[in-house]
Amino acid sequence: MRQTRPNLWKTYSVTMTAACVVIGGWCIVSRDLPVGPVALFCLLNPVAHVLPLRWRSATVTLGPGVELAVSWMSGPGAGMVVTAAGRVLANMMLRPLSRRGLAGVWGEAPRIAVAALAAGGAGCVYETLARLDILVPARAGLIPSGINGAAAFLSACVYAFLGMLLTVPGSHLRFGAGVLTLWRSECADLPVKFPVYVVAGLVLAWLYVTIHVGFSGIIAFALFLVLMIYSTRLFVRMSEVYRSTVENLVPAIEAKILGGPGHSRRVSDIAVAMGRKMALPCDEIRKLFFGAMLHDVGLAAIDERILNKKCALTESEYAIVMTHVMAGADIVSKSSFLNGCAETILHHHERYDGAGHPNGLAGSSIPLGARIVGIAEAYDAMTQFRPYGSRLQPEEALREIRAQAGCQFDPALVPVLEEVIHEMSRWGVGVFQRHYSLDIDC
Ligand SMILES: [Fe+2]
Repeated sequence: MRQTRPNLWKTYSVTMTAACVVIGGWCIVSRDLPVGPVALFCLLNPVAHVLPLRWRSATVTLGPGVELAVSWMSGPGAGMVVTAAGRVLANMMLRPLSRRGLAGVWGEAPRIAVAALAAGGAGCVYETLARLDILVPARAGLIPSGINGAAAFLSACVYAFLGMLLTVPGSHLRFGAGVLTLWRSECADLPVKFPVYVVAGLVLAWLYVTIHVGFSGIIAFALFLVLMIYSTRLFVRMSEVYRSTVENLVPAIEAKILGGPGHSRRVSDIAVAMGRKMALPCDEIRKLFFGAMLHDVGLAAIDERILNKKCALTESEYAIVMTHVMAGADIVSKSSFLNGCAETILHHHERYDGAGHPNGLAGSSIPLGARIVGIAEAYDAMTQFRPYGSRLQPEEALREIRAQAGCQFDPALVPVLEEVIHEMSRWGVGVFQRHYSLDIDC
């Protein structure tokens, strides 16, 4: 069984933070830092991070675009300072210190250091290409007269790759999840996010270099902020409306289902906590929440006499009950906001060995959200209700789940579930919910 490695995690944290401080410090003292632009972008970066652009279920922050633009325009040292300062400020704006404590701050330090190192690496690559005069024409001073698109693209590739390369080992040591799972999760959003980062960086650099942040720049910046704030507030409001609708609707559906009320909420709490432990992006956390809350919504379409039957189901009745995954996926796919979790609902009864429903998917071809909801649902069913047997104690249920690792469940998720369940037992459900599920919009 895979375990988290706290000592190695601490070593990793100290190494990343120290590397960031030493390399960033050397970059700063070895050349003049353009104080004005750096200060301006240090203020712009946290805003870009906390006010992401959203469209349907996709969320993209423009912060990396700001960090890349600074690395291109002002060199690696400035890129590192703006990245580190921007992310520290963004973290403080999103989650005040009082809510996280020092442990929470320390837990975020390595990710910030890794991002700063990635920005520094991107700046070095851009500068090297400039010095070699291969892709970038020679330029005077720290602010170039123009940004070369090809060099910018290559340095953005380095930024993305370096960020993932350094982040994955940390998440693995901290949460114990598999390296491949983490790597896939880091790569999953790249096709959408990477082009946005590059285009945002190029537009920002072009605006800054050509307009010199005069009156027009300030107007453009103000419009940019207004659009982001409007977009964010609209989305958060919509998310809250959907959340309260789902939270009120689900108990009404559960009332007719064997297993009783609270099942979906408990599955959702566990699934969201597992997602956070695995450092999944904000979008995935939201999809997990709604996917877990609505994973059995399709049961509403099944005959109550079958659902509440006191004796074992016949083969044909079982086949009817299992159609709830298709019915549920069909229901949410009609909503542009919820359709992102249709896959989670459709595949939450697949098995890791390929013997599940409805498509017999196996291993990593089962969507990660469905694997997480599947194992969370199984744990809740074992500990809260068993149609034809007695309830299990948490440790008994975990033992049974461990025995099914690699057969019914993804073996990489078992230690994550165990960590989550132990935390829930130690903290109590109220604290556990507040810690992990209070703010599903991250
Ligand atoms: Fe189900």
